[in-house]
Amino acid sequence: MTICEILPAADAQAPALALLRAGEVIAIPTETVYGLAGDATNGVAVARIFEAKGRPRFNPLIAHVADMSMAESIGIFDPLSRKLADAFWPGPLTLVVPLRPDAGIHPLVTAGLSTIALRMPRGFGAGLISALGRPLAAPSANSSGKISATSAEAVRADLGEKIPLVVDAGATPVGLESTILKVEDGGLRLLRPGGVPAEEIERVAGRPINRNRAGNVEAPGMLASHYAPGAAVRLDAVEVRPGEALLAFGPVRAKGAGKALAILNLSDRGDLREAATNLFSYLKSLDASGAKVIAVEPIPTAGLGEAINDRLSRAAAPRDMPPAQS
Ligand code: TXA
Ligand code: MG
Repeated sequence: MTICEILPAADAQAPALALLRAGEVIAIPTETVYGLAGDATNGVAVARIFEAKGRPRFNPLIAHVADMSMAESIGIFDPLSRKLADAFWPGPLTLVVPLRPDAGIHPLVTAGLSTIALRMPRGFGAGLISALGRPLAAPSANSSGKISATSAEAVRADLGEKIPLVVDAGATPVGLESTILKVEDGGLRLLRPGGVPAEEIERVAGRPINRNRAGNVEAPGMLASHYAPGAAVRLDAVEVRPGEALLAFGPVRAKGAGKALAILNLSDRGDLREAATNLFSYLKSLDASGAKVIAVEPIPTAGLGEAINDRLSRAAAPRDMPPAQS
């Protein structure tokens, strides 16, 4: 069993670098969720990521870069993808672009695809990647199919026996994973709604995003049950039934809320940004309340609401299919 240390970000750069250079995987904070990071050019490190998560190897990883020159040495950017990188990086946007054959990325990262998912994170990860001088492959730091971790303690509770270090920078500010956008033939396709609202991207791009995710075989994580708490999740609840916990949004509207086993409000004032930040940790807390079902009040679908509703509908999806990923 590995002894897992939690170190505050201010003290963690040197030990984190030493572990990454030795091909180990560690958990690092990003602005979206905690990531399980390894050197993207080292096949042993990348294999360890899949192993620690219990993730199927056909599901590719995001490569995290420190700057545009590192990004352009890995992916091929056309004028549109460059414009989006300029506008949203560093930040919670992942761009899927053609992979350069000489990128040096280990093929396990892309699961053999000819495209690569690239993201430039903010905060601790950015400094770490520049110091390492190589991209970091990093999926969300959670066991495959579970809710992503938004705190160092949540990472340790899930993966602590498998990794030597969690770098702690407190609660992640965005709280939801990045938006994943595929740039293809001058068009844009949304593979996963996330921390940058799709409307904002459309405004910068000056064109609509194709939101049709049907047949997205190259992104297996987009389908089926995912982000699954132990309890069942019931969406658009207008009343609380016996034995349920309630996840509220805005002024509590659900009938019978007084009888809920536990209540948490994503945002009393109905703010979607605040709701995104709280979503995963509140789902975990309500799950721990012992309720068999978590009833969720309706949440608006505009802006960050698209990503919040996406995660909730996956948390509510039937569990009798094989765990999809991530
Ligand atoms: O915010 C985030 O994006 C976090 C932080 C740690 O950066 N990372 C994250 O990674 O959510 P992960 O592995 O949990 O989700 C990445 C998704 C997966 O569903 C994968 O299928 C998809 O990105 N993906 C990766 N490479 C792809 C590619 N070349 N084409 C299409 N989808 C890809
Ligand atoms: Mg994930």
